[in-house]
Amino acid sequence: MILAIESSCDETAVAVIRRNQGKPGLLTSLISSQIEIHREFGGVVPEVACRNHAQRIRPLVQQALDEAGVTLDDIDAFAATRGPGLASSLLVGLAYAKGLAAASNKPFFGINHMEGHLLSPFLDLGRIPPHLGLIVSGGHTMLIDVQGYGDYRLIGHTIDDAAGEAFDKVGRMLQLPYPGGPEIEKHARSGNPKAFAFPRAVLKDAPFNFSFSGLKTAVLYQLQKLADPQDHLADICASFQAAVIDALLKKTIKAARENGHSLITLSGGVACNRALQDALIRAAGSNGMKVQPSPSSLTTDNAGMIAFAALLASENREPDDLGIGIDPNLPLAPA
Ligand code: KG4
Ligand code: ZN
Repeated sequence: MILAIESSCDETAVAVIRRNQGKPGLLTSLISSQIEIHREFGGVVPEVACRNHAQRIRPLVQQALDEAGVTLDDIDAFAATRGPGLASSLLVGLAYAKGLAAASNKPFFGINHMEGHLLSPFLDLGRIPPHLGLIVSGGHTMLIDVQGYGDYRLIGHTIDDAAGEAFDKVGRMLQLPYPGGPEIEKHARSGNPKAFAFPRAVLKDAPFNFSFSGLKTAVLYQLQKLADPQDHLADICASFQAAVIDALLKKTIKAARENGHSLITLSGGVACNRALQDALIRAAGSNGMKVQPSPSSLTTDNAGMIAFAALLASENREPDDLGIGIDPNLPLAPA
């Protein structure tokens, strides 16, 4: 049984996982979100996030144990996200989990946040089949060739803004509340995706890399041309969202085909977007491929995905030394 902590950004999260008759099961996965606090500032303020993690972590660990119906004595190992993320936020969760491990003389596993996202679609299955992983979050956009647990090759990434970051920045231009992603999806439902022809970046030298900053600027210029942008809110949202989805789909399908994968996963906060999920499932289907999206409870930041990655780590490698520190830029895989 493993207790895992996630605190890389603005969600404090704790989960308890156990493998039972071969299948992993989450006994509990709690998220104490700070979104309301950061909304006032239009984005995450690291110092505020860090202070809130520090205040929330102890009661949240206790609540997780209570809800799982276990005590600290029942936990066999502790885990925490060690990167990538905000340094001051990562420090709180990592230090707390290492403290629990040190006090009980039990193993500790430091986990890569992106590996948590990447593996989350397979929590129910309990093992990692070969696939092409698309991770779309607030900080990252990545295409990864996965042969199995621990065998990852980065084949594409964003060269500027992440997909979720583009949603959040365009949301801010449109004066929508933070985070922009879910707000844009909501308004896009009643808009025309063809109303505005926003660009889809083509990167000739690196066909699997993404770029969303040109799209963001195109939206800004369009807004400046409109007498009252709020009159066109739904159409702008729909056209922007369509451009992001288009850019993600083409490269994902091509990457899957070129790497011999018939299974594609979709994870990270932007994977919540139904229009993206539906479009990817349709595009994959017409290419004879299947899509395994991350379950909705494991898409935006959570500790369930960190617990699952830690469970696999405990079954496949040695624990980490307690001297291990955070790494805000921890890479997931070699290119
Ligand atoms: O994975 P996540 O919770 O945090 C990071 O690791 O970054 O992702 C958060 C991102 C935010 O940028 C948010 O706007 C985006 O996911 N997001 C969405 C949707 N729900 C969350 N983007 C588009 N459509 C959504 N429905
Ligand atoms: Zn994340």
